Amino acid sequence: MSTEKILVIGSCGQLGTELVESLREIYGESNVIASDIRKSDSEVFQSGPFETLDILDAQRFKEILMKYKPKQVYHLAALLSATAEKNPEFAWKLNMDGLFHVLDAAKEEGSGIGRVYWPSSIAAFGPNTPRFGTPQYGPMDPTTMYGVTKYTGELLIQYYHNRYGVDIRSLRYPGLIGYKSEPGGGTTDYAVAIYHDALRDGKHECFLGEGTTLPMLYMPDALKATLEVMHAPSEKIGMRMSYNLAGMSFAPEEIAASIQKHLPNFSISYNPDYRQAIANSWPAVIDDSLARDHWGWSPEYDLDAMTTDMLLNIKEIYF
Ligand code: SER
Repeated sequence: MSTEKILVIGSCGQLGTELVESLREIYGESNVIASDIRKSDSEVFQSGPFETLDILDAQRFKEILMKYKPKQVYHLAALLSATAEKNPEFAWKLNMDGLFHVLDAAKEEGSGIGRVYWPSSIAAFGPNTPRFGTPQYGPMDPTTMYGVTKYTGELLIQYYHNRYGVDIRSLRYPGLIGYKSEPGGGTTDYAVAIYHDALRDGKHECFLGEGTTLPMLYMPDALKATLEVMHAPSEKIGMRMSYNLAGMSFAPEEIAASIQKHLPNFSISYNPDYRQAIANSWPAVIDDSLARDHWGWSPEYDLDAMTTDMLLNIKEIYF
């Protein structure tokens, strides 16, 4: 078993919870250090080390780095799109200063940090980005503060790679859907809530309108992509901003129809709120050919396969 230590910052979020579980399976429980501003109740965090860390606290971050000397850092702490719109100033601070702290630590001579992961998002795109077949390179004019921090972050990680040789890997995640952990503060969160509502109440009121097609990815595929891009040899990472990544694309009525194949009485209604404008500024279908070409990305789940798996697993929670 390797003794290489891995630090996950923002480990109690939707992605972090599942990533810590996967990393502990690969690297051993005691080698993956979970950290977040506060510990969640999830069982995952009972299985190995946990450190309380506000990534804006540079001193505390240094102490944790000294204590564990991690070789890899996954930096996931951020405000997502909907929450960031409620407090744009703090979103800028957390998302950017947090990233700076991680990049500055990684560039230190003798830091021992060999590789960093940082997620970007479809939010880095904007209204002038082609919505269908969204290319890796093209107009980028994000209109949300979350998107502004993601696009700026992409330029920053590329700069730190070119200027200081920091080996940082990154993906533009679509909406992430899973049953093991809750999403928080995103515009794509309805696509998780809809499964819970379908099983619990038989109906769902959607905060996005009919016809709002967005790119989405099932969590097992998101974990696969994340680990693949982190484990790929450096020469395969031919692009040092964030890779476009696609799984599936659907509108609320299409996920509803997929659920109805299992629960024919399920119904959906629409009550769009402020998140509709955010969704309208994002792409519908992403072209991820660069990720496929460079490091062999290929997703496994389509909408119906995901629905079957989600319903099967969420049923356990309620029945
Ligand atoms: N799922 C994210 C959000 O909705 C997109 O990166 O904010």
